[in-house]
Amino acid sequence: MNKSNIYQVRRNALAQHLFTKTGGGVAIISTAPELTRNRDSEFPYRHDSDFFYLTGFEEPGATLVMKVEKDGNYFQLQSHLFCRPKDPEREIWDGIRLGPEAAPEALGIEFAHSNQELDQKLSDILADQDAVYVSLSENAEADRRLRHWMKQVRGQARSGINPPSAFHDVEALIHEMRLFKDAQEINTMRRAATISARAHVRAMQACKPGMREYQLEAELLHEFRNSGAQSVAYNSIVAGGANTCILHYRAGATELRAGELCLIDAGCELDGYASDITRTFPVNGKFSGPQRALYDITQAAQEAAIAMTIVGNTFIQPHEAAVKVLTQGLLDEKLLKLSELGSLENAIETGAYRRFYMHRTSHWLGMDVHDVGSYRESSTNLVQDEKPWRILRSGMVITIEPGLYIRPADDIDEAFWNIGIRIEDDAVINDSGCELISRGAPVKADEIEALMKNT
Ligand code: GLY
Ligand code: MN
Ligand code: MN
Repeated sequence: MNKSNIYQVRRNALAQHLFTKTGGGVAIISTAPELTRNRDSEFPYRHDSDFFYLTGFEEPGATLVMKVEKDGNYFQLQSHLFCRPKDPEREIWDGIRLGPEAAPEALGIEFAHSNQELDQKLSDILADQDAVYVSLSENAEADRRLRHWMKQVRGQARSGINPPSAFHDVEALIHEMRLFKDAQEINTMRRAATISARAHVRAMQACKPGMREYQLEAELLHEFRNSGAQSVAYNSIVAGGANTCILHYRAGATELRAGELCLIDAGCELDGYASDITRTFPVNGKFSGPQRALYDITQAAQEAAIAMTIVGNTFIQPHEAAVKVLTQGLLDEKLLKLSELGSLENAIETGAYRRFYMHRTSHWLGMDVHDVGSYRESSTNLVQDEKPWRILRSGMVITIEPGLYIRPADDIDEAFWNIGIRIEDDAVINDSGCELISRGAPVKADEIEALMKNT
């Protein structure tokens, strides 16, 4: 299947959903706006993931409009791309634009128009259409434009044209599709994870006491960009010492000191897909006794979670498996007191472990690092929190990232203070279990020590 066909297949699948739900309608999906960073400098541009999923088009200023009409027992789909017109003057400054003339051939889309025609053409497309599918969680500017289009269609009422009467959320439909990755997506995610794993290895090899966190961040960025990844998938966390216990820490200027741990949570974005890897290692290449004890518990928890990452289990089962191992480990190390809690089950049920493990073990991974898709089954009429957890299926991709974070406190043995550990890998669920696509970076404590010794 060539590149453009994948997007046609996805648009057809979305059209089928519109047809099934409301017998057709019009879907409007815009890409992300450009954002100013300061004064006249902009943030690096990043397309909207839903829009890119359906078009493969990365330029700003674009909107996809899909018109789905009943045709006997089936439907007809017309796809329109509105994009920036060619402009030789602007292209000197901002770069080449594809333009509406070249877009149909380049992207495999039926119709393309200048984005300056969007308002006028949309009032034609929306005429006599009942159902409109838009993102209901978008920004005020998108709402304003939608109201404007509706006003235009209503203005034609005297010519006998009916405006749309129902708005539907297009995101839920696209997000359900995005939850299941096709072979091309999985291949891209494998390549992204391979690059990110190499970056973690590079950072471990470069790490020496006395370096600063931002210097290891530079090693990561070097590997990402040198390997062709366009960007980070999220801001890299490079945390030394006490900073390992701050979950959303960024790479700062803290010196990395012998005897302390360094936690790196970093992944590149390649061709629109994220990777998300965490490794924790000793700054001087050798775990201390308490560090090693907690590291091995975390690693065992990750193994337990991996074993539960299989088709037919629910999304929460890997987390529950990790919590059980972590909590037992906390009891063994006397960070949780069996004399107070009575039993492992009680330590779990009361949530006592959350003092040291306060996040979930997994999230969906895909175009977005915390990717889209419902974590609950939708087939019941229960309220969201009471719906059963999602059943894991082939083609889903999740992270598996248990951790332990021990902040200083009077009731905690000082030997454990400021030990923050997280181990995170990316797992593609398939029919025979899961494929860990990020294991190019070592996980076992011995393997990490061996790697750091040989550098
Ligand atoms: N790096 C974000 C996360 O692990 O969820
Ligand atoms: Mn993650
Ligand atoms: Mn992460």
